Amino acid sequence: MLIKKPADLKPSEITSEKNYLNRRDFIRGGAIAGGALLGGSAVGAVIPDARLGKLANVTKSPYSTSEKANSFEDISTYNNFYEFGLGKEDPFQNAENFKTRPWTIEVSGHAEKTGSFDFDDFMKPFDLEERIYRMRCVEAWSMVIPWVGISLAEVVKHFNPTSKAKYVAFETLNDREQMPGLNGRSLDWPYREGLSIAEATNPLPILAVGIYGNVIPNQNGAPIRLVTPWKYGFKGIKSIVKIKFTSTRPQTSWNMAAANEYGFYANVNPEVSHPRWSQARERRIGAGIFADKQETLMFNGYGEDVAHLYKDLDLRRNF
Ligand code: MTE
Repeated sequence: MLIKKPADLKPSEITSEKNYLNRRDFIRGGAIAGGALLGGSAVGAVIPDARLGKLANVTKSPYSTSEKANSFEDISTYNNFYEFGLGKEDPFQNAENFKTRPWTIEVSGHAEKTGSFDFDDFMKPFDLEERIYRMRCVEAWSMVIPWVGISLAEVVKHFNPTSKAKYVAFETLNDREQMPGLNGRSLDWPYREGLSIAEATNPLPILAVGIYGNVIPNQNGAPIRLVTPWKYGFKGIKSIVKIKFTSTRPQTSWNMAAANEYGFYANVNPEVSHPRWSQARERRIGAGIFADKQETLMFNGYGEDVAHLYKDLDLRRNF
């Protein structure tokens, strides 16, 4: 396996159809009190099958930062998505024709509901929220991104994991025809990530389907990707096709590639350096080359919401 070194490292029982249709009928007929009963919009998340199409029924989230968001250009042209190449502009250049429909998400493992779901059906039970999050990449740069997504905690609740489920594992599409980077061996494909159940049911993580109110660009992980703002960016697995509830800790791509450099937790921590560089400060993309670096915050500033998850862990060893 090729591990890039120093500075160049960028880094049914489906919801039975019957139940599903019943639920849809209920939602349709029940536009009545639907909103109130279901705790949100009666429509559910409808994602246009159009590049950068406008997303409807998006509510604002109290979890958003008031920091200035990066420009759409910064967010969509400076990316890590190794399936489309190792350079920062490669995903923007190479993912233009990536097909995000039809798209199937397979949910498996220790849960009451499992099965293969068409993306549009997968989305319907959930409500869309805009969450403006600070994002910190392990390469010591950061951005502020106005995501649109659904709460991962709500998704977990919907599939109803059993008591055996201790982790949630995710996988990216593995399609050599569409993803030129898969022919290289920068990582062991498919890209894999995971969270503990406690992390996945925390209110912060979302599955993002949009940016700036529109359908998420392919290079940012269309049609659906994970966002965990208190963790380094590599946890934010893109273009998800598999979600599995597991009893043991799943393997994750960067941990498999270099376990001493990329831990399972990957919590943003200015006090624990990467073995080859400090994590104490960060460069805000778009701030200009003369801008000072800014201090990195513990848990990327989200400690109030997540620090309790790690109170019994030595974060120096469990990085
Ligand atoms: N997901 C997949 N499938 N492949 C990748 O190479 N890169 C990760 C993460 N998710 C990556 C991925 C890394 S290192 C980062 S920093 C973020 O995606 C970047 O997300 P962005 O390009 O939307 O800013």
